[in-house]
Amino acid sequence: MFMFRTGFAGAAVLSFVCAGAFAAEIAPPKLGRPATPDEVAKADISIPPDGKGLPPGSGSVAQGAQIFQAKCSACHGANGQGTPNGDRLVGGVGTLASANPVKTVSSYWPYATTLFDYIRRAMPITNPQSLQNDEVYAVVAYILSIDNIVPKDVVMDAQSLPKVQMPNRNGFINWEPRLIRP
Ligand code: HEC
Repeated sequence: MFMFRTGFAGAAVLSFVCAGAFAAEIAPPKLGRPATPDEVAKADISIPPDGKGLPPGSGSVAQGAQIFQAKCSACHGANGQGTPNGDRLVGGVGTLASANPVKTVSSYWPYATTLFDYIRRAMPITNPQSLQNDEVYAVVAYILSIDNIVPKDVVMDAQSLPKVQMPNRNGFINWEPRLIRP
């Protein structure tokens, strides 16, 4: 016990001295500025698995098919089959445990809400965050309809999207239950 106390006090004094020396000799660089609330709001758009924070709006499969054709198919193929410029998004359901697993949104992703998050945030890759929320809901509906994960007449919105059961939803091991909300 005595040894422990001595060691602890010594370490505290040492780090105090080091911090003082650093401040005296190397001033921190005067780079950047605090982000404005508007800038933080634009970046703070994560949608968790349970869909909390999904925005108002909605979109149908038919609307999504048109948007996909216009803004996504050049890279992801006419029906999401992929091209050398963009990942395959559909197909491969049921192949993950086979000798030739095909990992796609349909076959691999556990939560449909992630699809909204990702597309809104990052796609089209050449013009991210350019889609309206209605357009994001529509392309999500369209992509999920290709492998019949949702019916062709579905309308996606903040209520229906979190209820979608992805085929590989139970294919993941929950290694740390405290970090993952049900
Ligand atoms: C100019 C080419 C291009 C366009 C247009 C484009 N994408 Fe992508 N997309 C990519 C590339 C490249 C990736 C892979 C990005 C990465 O892995 O970082 C990708 C990844 C994705 C993914 C994730 C796939 C996965 O399994 O990880 C989704 C979903 C997606 N795009 C949807 C869309 C949608 C919807 C649109 C239209 C609104 C779109 N993309 C338009 C090139 C494009």
